[in-house]
Amino acid sequence: MTSSSLVQLAEKILERAKMIDELTKTNFGILPNSSHLRSLTQTRTEQQQVPLELAQARLDIVDTAQELKRRVQDPEVTLAELFTGYTDTLILRAVYKLKLPQQVPTEGSTTYARIAQSVSMDETILRRFFHYAISIHVFEEPEPGHIAHTPISRLLCTNPLAFDSLGMTLEELVPASQEVLVALERYPRATEPTETGFQIVNQTDLPVYEFLAQHPERARRFGAGMRFFTQGSHLDLNYLFEAFPWREYDSNDFTVVDVGGGHGGVAIELATKTMNMHFIVQDIEGTIEAGRTALPEELKGRVTFMTHDFFSEQPISADVYFFRWIMHNWSDEYCERIIRNLLPAMKRGARILLYEHEMDETPTSRLSRKGAGYLDMVMLSGFNGCVRTESGWKKLLATQDNRLRFKGIHRVPGSAMSLVEAIWDP
Ligand SMILES: C[S@@+](CC[C@H](N)C(=O)[O-])C[C@H]1O[C@@H](n2cnc3c(N)ncnc32)[C@H](O)[C@@H]1O
Repeated sequence: MTSSSLVQLAEKILERAKMIDELTKTNFGILPNSSHLRSLTQTRTEQQQVPLELAQARLDIVDTAQELKRRVQDPEVTLAELFTGYTDTLILRAVYKLKLPQQVPTEGSTTYARIAQSVSMDETILRRFFHYAISIHVFEEPEPGHIAHTPISRLLCTNPLAFDSLGMTLEELVPASQEVLVALERYPRATEPTETGFQIVNQTDLPVYEFLAQHPERARRFGAGMRFFTQGSHLDLNYLFEAFPWREYDSNDFTVVDVGGGHGGVAIELATKTMNMHFIVQDIEGTIEAGRTALPEELKGRVTFMTHDFFSEQPISADVYFFRWIMHNWSDEYCERIIRNLLPAMKRGARILLYEHEMDETPTSRLSRKGAGYLDMVMLSGFNGCVRTESGWKKLLATQDNRLRFKGIHRVPGSAMSLVEAIWDP
């Protein structure tokens, strides 16, 4: 990208913008509003799956616009932007703590004076907070003295999961990340789930989820925040369905074990899209109970729940052992233990499928690829886990047993996730 001239970059943006205009005009039935800004910021629950060319055009604009900005801006200015970014956190914390989105009506506007009264804060300070928030597209001032929502602040106001994800990020992830270097000084191997910034900031020896279990409101917020992060269209489970030929294996005697499958969200989705194959969701006790209770009646014959600790030997001989967002929580040592515990149960041709974010092998400055790096830092801060590259996966799977063969990685365009496949081939 760096070899392109500024004009070429600008033309690329123009071309993709025209494409998006055209696609939204001719209407795939997915972006019903005339306002592009609003349409493009709809959440997944409001829209259907985004067509691939539209998704790609959006990513191209984001990456190219960022590159163009970097090229026209002096490095001193870019550097200052980087190290002054912490004030975004200050303002977001004020937005969260003072529940500012909830102070503004979903349509129309209110005044600074009314909000100041409602949150019992000096109006001058509050105005300063809002002025900064407006600069980062949270709220707008439609007329002097009045505050209204932008799509971002409206989302925080109307979607409780979005608001919880803001709280979970500011109150759990940010403080843990600030202690990462202290944790690394104390525990340089960075392999244990009890030796991270999270334990240091919370003065505990417990892993994240065990600690949160003792603080029910924080645990609730953490769960809700995670649910919000998994709602993006780039995480749509249709991509998982496209990544593997599930329909080809859709027979009565084909069994998929979803290891650490939570409440069974993936199993339910795959069972709905297939006719015959069976799913066993394994997780820790409380989670399994909740999943079992919520299982739709019509799937009870094909989806079952089972308590199983994935650090003990797998009792089910299945065709597929599926894991989503498990391995990134653990260091290689622990992942090796999880995989090794599957091997005694595996029959010839059985597969391990790991559905995870993937880090690029070569580091990139493309903004659209920043998500994997972000998640990698979250994993370091709270779990001593990591987001892996293709070579990281190969290494992990290859060290187990030479009968376990790394088969490849399925990547579906538009998806943030990759499906890593290994097969038991004695
Ligand atoms: C990040 S969540 C992923 C849940 C699910 N796979 C999904 O994609 O929605 C990690 C899951 O691992 C489960 N888990 C953690 N330790 C476990 C263990 N030792 N045995 C089985 N499940 C475990 C947690 O209860 C949680 O449901």
